[in-house]
Amino acid sequence: MQKIKFGIIGLGLMGREFASAAARWLHLPGMEIQPEIVAICDTSKAMFSWYEDHIPTIKQRVTDYRELLANKEVEAVYCAVPHHLHREIYCAIIESGKHLMAEKPFGIDREANDAIIRCIQDHPGVFVRCSSEFPFFPAAQKIGHMIDQEEFGQIIEVNGGFLHSSDMDPEKAINWKRMIEFNGEYGSMGDLGMHVCHIPFRAGWQIHNVRAVLSNIITERPDGKGGTAACKTWDNATLLCEASDSSGLSHFPLTLKTQRIAPGEKNTWYIEILGTRKSARFSTKNPKRLSILEYNGGEQIWQQIDMGQETAFKSVTGGIFEFGFSDAMLQMWAAFLYELQHGQPLHRFAGCATPAETAMSHRLFTAALKSFAGNRVIEL
Ligand SMILES: NC(=O)c1ccc[n+]([C@@H]2O[C@H](COP(=O)([O-])OP(=O)(O)OC[C@H]3O[C@@H](n4cnc5c(N)ncnc54)[C@H](O)[C@@H]3O)[C@@H](O)[C@H]2O)c1
Repeated sequence: MQKIKFGIIGLGLMGREFASAAARWLHLPGMEIQPEIVAICDTSKAMFSWYEDHIPTIKQRVTDYRELLANKEVEAVYCAVPHHLHREIYCAIIESGKHLMAEKPFGIDREANDAIIRCIQDHPGVFVRCSSEFPFFPAAQKIGHMIDQEEFGQIIEVNGGFLHSSDMDPEKAINWKRMIEFNGEYGSMGDLGMHVCHIPFRAGWQIHNVRAVLSNIITERPDGKGGTAACKTWDNATLLCEASDSSGLSHFPLTLKTQRIAPGEKNTWYIEILGTRKSARFSTKNPKRLSILEYNGGEQIWQQIDMGQETAFKSVTGGIFEFGFSDAMLQMWAAFLYELQHGQPLHRFAGCATPAETAMSHRLFTAALKSFAGNRVIEL
């Protein structure tokens, strides 16, 4: 088993998810490469204890990421910090020659994304990917396989989205995710957009133009210190795009929704592809249900399949058992390490988002901001 020594920069919500996935590596019997966490970094020392209590391989804990990057033992870094820090810290990691699993939106804005992409181009020996776990749900993997096999026929329409209600409560105090200076102008597109773009981009569908409608639903929040603070980020975004597939035969509407205030939705990622021969629907609201409609000229019948553990990377879980969020994280991490080791993904839809895909998402979100500001369609 090849071991890759990892450092984590940013020990919050997502740092813990990676640590948990790394601790559960025995779940993946087919892997020939494994992450080992040896160094951790967060500006808040209070974040260290959970990691130290659970990960005996940690040898270095620091509050300045530069010290972690100076550690020669660290070969790869997972960086999960607020968006305004992506450019500075991702570039520093890449320049240190360490591989990088980064978080979306991969730069707070297009300028930051361009700078990170230039840095990657200047360091071709460094492997860099962006986290996006939802395509690893078995039903989404099956949809990817259907795209590979060109089973949809001519594509009629595609709808993708990520809806949750984390900010539904107007009394929830503001945090960095609702502050433009830390989260960025994109608002919910920066938070959730890469997740909804990953499958359409990986499918090779090209987006030609966009008309966006953005909403700032809750404009003021408690500041957590007894007062109130302006909340200027976009809570919800709906992007209506004109898209085509790589053959150019299908020209279709693609609607992408990213919503942080979606009544009734806790954390729902979905994709729906309607085609002349087959259609498919999947939503994490019903995490094992894949709906498929096959049209051969007769009745149009939606069939529902219960998906089990039909994962990209073999797991020890019994084939009939349900799959969940932390399983998707584990699969995504397997994809990162597999591609690092083999130089290519296991298959097209078993890879983490590429820097080029993040650049496409930034072009789209920047165009969406322009579309809403000018009340018009923007060509990409
Ligand atoms: N893939 C996903 O499903 C998913 C989900 C949530 C968030 N994210 C992304 O992950 C990233 C982090 O989000 P989160 O939810 O983990 O945030 P978080 O606020 O829970 O954690 C961020 C951590 O970074 C630390 N930090 C801040 N500045 C730092 C610095 N200079 N050096 C080191 N550490 C520093 C903070 O103290 C905090 O502990 C963001 O890019 C976010 O968009 C991804």
